[in-house]
Amino acid sequence: MPLAIRETPMRALAWHGKEDIRCDEVSDPEILHERDAIVKVTSCAICGSDLHLFHNFIPAMLPGDIVGHEMMGEVVEVGRGTAGKLRKGERIVVPFTIFCGDCEQCRRGNFSVCERSNRNAALAEKAFGHATAGLFGYTHLTGGYPGGQAEYVRVPLADTTHIKVPDALTDEQALFLGDILPTGWQAAKQCEIEPSDTVAVWGCGPVGQMAIRSAMLQGARRVVAIDEIPERLGMAEACGAVAVDFSQESVAERLAELTDGKGPEKCIDAVGMENHVGLDQPDTLLDRAKQMTMLQTDRGHVLREMIRVCRPAGILSIPGVYGGLMDKVPIGLVMNKGLTIRAAQTHVTRWTDELLKIIEDGLLDPSFVITHTAPLEDGPEMYRTFRDKSDGCIKVVLKP
Ligand SMILES: NC(=O)c1ccc[n+]([C@@H]2O[C@H](COP(=O)([O-])OP(=O)(O)OC[C@H]3O[C@@H](n4cnc5c(N)ncnc54)[C@H](O)[C@@H]3O)[C@@H](O)[C@H]2O)c1
Ligand SMILES: [Zn+2]
Ligand SMILES: [Zn+2]
Repeated sequence: MPLAIRETPMRALAWHGKEDIRCDEVSDPEILHERDAIVKVTSCAICGSDLHLFHNFIPAMLPGDIVGHEMMGEVVEVGRGTAGKLRKGERIVVPFTIFCGDCEQCRRGNFSVCERSNRNAALAEKAFGHATAGLFGYTHLTGGYPGGQAEYVRVPLADTTHIKVPDALTDEQALFLGDILPTGWQAAKQCEIEPSDTVAVWGCGPVGQMAIRSAMLQGARRVVAIDEIPERLGMAEACGAVAVDFSQESVAERLAELTDGKGPEKCIDAVGMENHVGLDQPDTLLDRAKQMTMLQTDRGHVLREMIRVCRPAGILSIPGVYGGLMDKVPIGLVMNKGLTIRAAQTHVTRWTDELLKIIEDGLLDPSFVITHTAPLEDGPEMYRTFRDKSDGCIKVVLKP
């Protein structure tokens, strides 16, 4: 049925300011350009990146912005420009990075820095020096495209911006191809893992869980998982990682002990700008004060710790999201220890063929991370449950 003759407006989760996500009635999306498609969302998820919006740490959000960037569903309308690439009725996962497929960056597989998909490129250039790709349900610096925590979503550049899903896979097995699975995979790829490597992963949220399993599949000798939430550490241990609870013991001492004093060769930051604040990590108190007075955007404890403990000539991989500025980064240690730092928003579709095969071959079923499934209307409450890590929450899937 064409969306236009539906009688009720659609529902979507919208941002209205700090800690204020509402389930609103909004206008249905429409085809605006010939390369657009409209997708009826069957499943969507809440991501750690949504929490940065929830806490108002990412600039350039506007009240009423529809959030959500991890979604999948059925194509219900297509523009003429998608002919031969995408058809009505097809089941797709929508990658969170919108990409054109033929600019210089896209041709190199650098989809999250597509040169054409950010409709607010001029604004982004002012903030970042260069525009990066358009993203769903995120800041206006990345195009301000309405997101997919909604009944329907418009997918711009849909002839390229999609991942077709085999019928044999459930929504739960396929959904995370749009974000956290390739994010964990890319985090491990950035480490160029060798069979002798110890890979330490800070943060055992959904991204950390995917990074831990990816590092194992990519052949790491040992993976160390760092967090303070027991069930998240337990989930990491269940697949063979060594768990370190940073609230109970010194991360630096434990990593030294596990590596004959040499430190892990590879370190992954799956925490980002909002690491835990506590007296046990005094630098975080100063960072928090600076964030509150807008002297910096990001808390740097995890990055500082990684720089200190990483083995010389090692690699630091940063999938965790940072917003802008951070103080007291020991760049002298990076330089003198010869460390390589690699970071990115995920180039999602660079990895998804490989990952689809891994899922189909039964090597990894990404649905293991889901702890909560709820209707879209419960979204505002589920944001809090996920943020507070209450009720054992690790990953929330919403059903519009
Ligand atoms: N690069 C990308 O494209 C991309 C994609 C998805 C998510 N992300 C980012 O990845 C990060 C993690 O996302 P998530 O969904 O797993 O979120 P999450 O908030 O559920 O997980 C973060 C975890 O870090 C832990 N943590 C806090 N302080 C810590 C510390 N000092 N040491 C170790 N662990 C600590 C928390 O307890 C929590 O379990 C976020 O910053 C998110 O924005 C990036
Ligand atoms: Zn995300
Ligand atoms: Zn492009």
